[in-house]
Amino acid sequence: MRILNASGCLDALAAPDVARQLDAFVTKTVTPLPREGSAPPRIAETAHGMLNAIGLANPGRERFLAEHLPRLGELGIPVWVSVGGFCADDYADVAACRQATELPLYAKLSAAHPDVAQVARAVAAAGADGLSLINTLRATALDRGLQPVLARGSGGLSGPVLKPIALHAVNVCAEATALPIVGMGGIESGRDALEFAACGARDIALGTVLFADPGAPARVGSELAAVCADVGVAIPDDVRGLAKSPETVRKVHA
Ligand SMILES: Cc1cc2nc3c(=O)[nH]c(=O)nc-3n(C[C@H](O)[C@H](O)[C@H](O)COP(=O)(O)O)c2cc1C
Repeated sequence: MRILNASGCLDALAAPDVARQLDAFVTKTVTPLPREGSAPPRIAETAHGMLNAIGLANPGRERFLAEHLPRLGELGIPVWVSVGGFCADDYADVAACRQATELPLYAKLSAAHPDVAQVARAVAAAGADGLSLINTLRATALDRGLQPVLARGSGGLSGPVLKPIALHAVNVCAEATALPIVGMGGIESGRDALEFAACGARDIALGTVLFADPGAPARVGSELAAVCADVGVAIPDDVRGLAKSPETVRKVHA
């Protein structure tokens, strides 16, 4: 099981020592053109998790390729570039996806879709090599004056509140496709990581936890080894897919 960071939750150039604890670094999402992002405030803590409305702020494809990527290459760990856009043409512009590259392509899915397994099957049919599950979920928090805390009104909710939702998404997508899955959503400990493996994840990513604990990748790695020993397995892969979801089992036998 590789430990990655979740996109947008670590600036590897500002914190190379954190990045070097990872098995691979994932960049913040790069779009064809530079983006300033949303107006502040764009991050808020809530009693249930972190809310962010960064608005995909990034330097754009050209500056990323010229200035950021060469420096990221010097970190000495594999770099996964997250690309995004607002329509199919944007994706074609930054990656053109399957037809333009033989590099491994992971599709990041949202659990907001009522049937995420169906989306997983669609991206598998379109040639994806793997899945990243899950992204933040859209949410709103109000201040004392009953107004939205974030300038944009709503944002993406992240942190431990997502874990049960993410475990479910990983579970049903692992049953629906044979694609390797990077699981994420509220992972804070080795035990969390092992639960994602039991639901079918091959690798995991740490997001919100990195803001509070920059040592999380190394810590989660050593906790994972200890928790494997506790449950009597050698490596996390030994529990992969152990947690069978009755709803998917029913579908398989239907
Ligand atoms: C501040 C912040 C910025 C994020 N930016 C991105 C992004 O640029 N691209 C992306 O795919 N996901 C982005 N995410 C979502 C994370 O990659 C991850 O899917 C989500 O936060 C769930 O993991 P977590 O609960 O461990 O944080 C961002 C999350 C946060 C908190």
